[in-house]
Amino acid sequence: MAFSHLPCATTLSAVHSPCSRPSSHPLFAKPSHFLTHAKRSPRLQVSCAAAQNQNDSVDSTDPQGKVDRRNMLLGLGGLYGATNLVSIPGVFANPIQPPELDKCGTATVNDKPVEYSCCPPATQRIIDYRLPPVFQMKIRPSAHRVSPEYIFKYNLAIDRMKRLPKDDPRSFMQQANIHCAYCNGAYDQAGQSNVDLQVHNSWLFFPFHRWYLYFYERILGKLIGDPTFALPFWNWDNPKGMTIPPMFVDPNSALYDEKRDPASLPPAVVDLGFTKNTDTLQVVANNLTIMYNEMIRGNANVYDFMGQPLREGGEPKGGGSSERGSHTAVHVWVGDPRQPNGEDLGNFYSAGRDSLFYCHHANVDRMWTLWQYFLPSNKVPDKKITDPDFLNAAFLFYDENAQLVRVTVKDCLDNLRMGYDFERIDLPWLDYRPPRQTAKAKITRTSSTAPKASTLFPLNLDQVVRFQVDKTKKGKANELLVLENITVDTSKLIKFDVFVNDEDDNATELDKAAYLGTYAQVPHRSTKKTETSTIRLKLTDLYDDLADIEDDETIVVTLVPRHQGPGVTIGGIKIIEDSDTAK
Ligand code: C2O
Repeated sequence: MAFSHLPCATTLSAVHSPCSRPSSHPLFAKPSHFLTHAKRSPRLQVSCAAAQNQNDSVDSTDPQGKVDRRNMLLGLGGLYGATNLVSIPGVFANPIQPPELDKCGTATVNDKPVEYSCCPPATQRIIDYRLPPVFQMKIRPSAHRVSPEYIFKYNLAIDRMKRLPKDDPRSFMQQANIHCAYCNGAYDQAGQSNVDLQVHNSWLFFPFHRWYLYFYERILGKLIGDPTFALPFWNWDNPKGMTIPPMFVDPNSALYDEKRDPASLPPAVVDLGFTKNTDTLQVVANNLTIMYNEMIRGNANVYDFMGQPLREGGEPKGGGSSERGSHTAVHVWVGDPRQPNGEDLGNFYSAGRDSLFYCHHANVDRMWTLWQYFLPSNKVPDKKITDPDFLNAAFLFYDENAQLVRVTVKDCLDNLRMGYDFERIDLPWLDYRPPRQTAKAKITRTSSTAPKASTLFPLNLDQVVRFQVDKTKKGKANELLVLENITVDTSKLIKFDVFVNDEDDNATELDKAAYLGTYAQVPHRSTKKTETSTIRLKLTDLYDDLADIEDDETIVVTLVPRHQGPGVTIGGIKIIEDSDTAK
């Protein structure tokens, strides 16, 4: 099915038609599973139909939801212009600034220099990027559902990208090197020597990658003369999309990359939990549980999902649930263990050399959109970050015309304003709440023998450990389990899972109430070779799903490492009351 036939591909001549989607359309899911556009209607009616520029779409919509045509015309003023940065004085530090390209240095992997330069061509002229008006919404298709015509176009575009001169910033390797430079230490933060610029493991994660894909997509579209070209998303959150999409594994295709784990080629099903469970149905159940957990059950505030703040001069203090979870898992699952550093997808410096990376990240980006606009908001009371150090953080990219542009986080918060949307697909994880665990007897017996957490921490996590943690005095409402000062060797793959009162003690099955959450990171470079973060895992729903736990004074926590050997220490663990959630 050609993506361009989606009903939301509205053209300028149809600006006043709302983006309605007939429920009988074959692309649509069962109503119960499918989040309709209507939930997003105040924004949608505008952005889906008309050009938007600096004005927020809600402001330019009249009460009937029609587009104010004046605002639309204002948007036609051209692609570039001055960015109005709102500087809000106050208690904050400063936002992360774009890198200084002329100071780009050597990227490293595992302490060795990357064998080629990851630096982009330097250019004097930098333009503040303005989002162009949206005449036609691009619809990113699910990679498993695309038509042969789509595959042909995509292939052609990538092939042309690979044929561009090596020093063209839009060429395939230059595009791949963007990731290497921003993630493996080629740049210091502007004005700071010896603090790496790093776009992972913090609130920069989603915005950086959104902009990265935005320009990548526009470059591909330009190369085939099709401005409506939209990247496919690897629908790994849906059982039908849990294998590597077929178009990427044809050795004759420009989309092919040989540096992938042979064990992960189709029909292998992605193991988002690294549980190594060999029962495919169980792996699918684990995956859906992980998605439910990282999108819905596990987060108490916006930073739990988006990642912790990162400001000028600082170092990353921890990625959000989605980045740590499904995102990291897919990188590592695809990366080739026969290569020295898990190339290509298994290490940040090389990830962009596999076309599958962009398809993977299109789904990561989709998760952000789903979380922002479609998921139940009672779970996280405020999903907006208004901190100016977030909104004004900036990056540099080359656009489709090879012009160097400066972009800010605040301009990428709404995918519709950026001119793209996603094909609507079932979200089978949406209601995938684990069954209630009722038998309490066994865990009561183990808990009386498990040591207290205070006797074990700081803890070197290289094997399964089980211990008791005291609950707060107030009882179950809005409690969070906090794992403090998790210090990891950033050159290694690190992953561990957290279980609470896990009575059956089978860590290869995650579809149960006792599974609380995860920590994981893709190997990369960092200034000090280690990174320290704190993660918070929401206990509220887990308490509801575990029988009788309210009356207990302690919970029994099991930490299950999925990596080999040392590389992670955890400073402490405690349960706190969450005041944000209480609001
Ligand atoms: Cu920048 Cu998935 O990595």
